[in-house]
Amino acid sequence: MMLEVDDIQTYYGESHALQGVSLTVAAGETVCLLGRNGAGKSTTLKSIMGLTPPRSGRIVFQGEAIQGRPPHRIARAGIALVPEDRRIFPGLTVRENLEVAQRPPRRGTKPSWSIERIFDQYPMLAERAQQDGATLSGGQQQMLAVARALMTEPRLLLLDEPNEGLAPVIVKTIGALIDALAETTTIVFTDQSVHFALAHADRAYILEKGRVVHEAEAAALRNDTATQERYLSVA
Ligand SMILES: Nc1ncnc2c1ncn2[C@@H]1O[C@H](COP(=O)(O)OP(=O)(O)OP(=O)(O)O)[C@@H](O)[C@H]1O
Ligand SMILES: [Mg+2]
Repeated sequence: MMLEVDDIQTYYGESHALQGVSLTVAAGETVCLLGRNGAGKSTTLKSIMGLTPPRSGRIVFQGEAIQGRPPHRIARAGIALVPEDRRIFPGLTVRENLEVAQRPPRRGTKPSWSIERIFDQYPMLAERAQQDGATLSGGQQQMLAVARALMTEPRLLLLDEPNEGLAPVIVKTIGALIDALAETTTIVFTDQSVHFALAHADRAYILEKGRVVHEAEAAALRNDTATQERYLSVA
């Protein structure tokens, strides 16, 4: 397994947000975390990234226990998170946003992403290289946020609600982006509705009230309308 999350308990102060979440992700897989508002999807990704460190439980990435490590060390181990609010720098140009995300290559590895390669793969960003981040549309900002994450050369890419607030036509572009990245990168993404998840993930976990309540291959969940109706907003 590339990632094993074992019985993590995460709190915000006294609020018990994750009440024993366990999941696994194999190298090369694309996994979706589903669930309604407040189910614990974002907190799960933030816990993996070390932003909301779990109070107990284990997170093992490529054989190493990473729980309790600061986020920059988890990033260096090969995990990148694109947060829900995307957090690009609005006052920096597209190129500058990519430049500040650049990391020295890990020892013994050849970098696979450079700004040139990003611009080559995503001409939409190349065309706007000198524009401020603030001038991009929501979908363009999401693509820039993903490109920034790629600059850190992740082995595991975490995407928190990549479609939130985007028009349906843009959601298609984001889906295609995930499909293309999935060929070379292991991905965990979150979503509130089941359709996008089933179209782009191999497997899904459903969360409710800080717990995993269901796990299934995408193909099996597709035909399981009872589970969909029970736990998800079918939009
Ligand atoms: N910064 C915070 N402070 C206190 N409680 C929080 C904070 N962030 C999240 N929570 C609580 O933790 C629980 C899990 O929230 P989380 O954001 O992980 O859910 P989610 O599944 O990502 O929801 P959404 O679909 O709305 O993004 C919820 O009860 C939420 O109210
Ligand atoms: Mg969330």
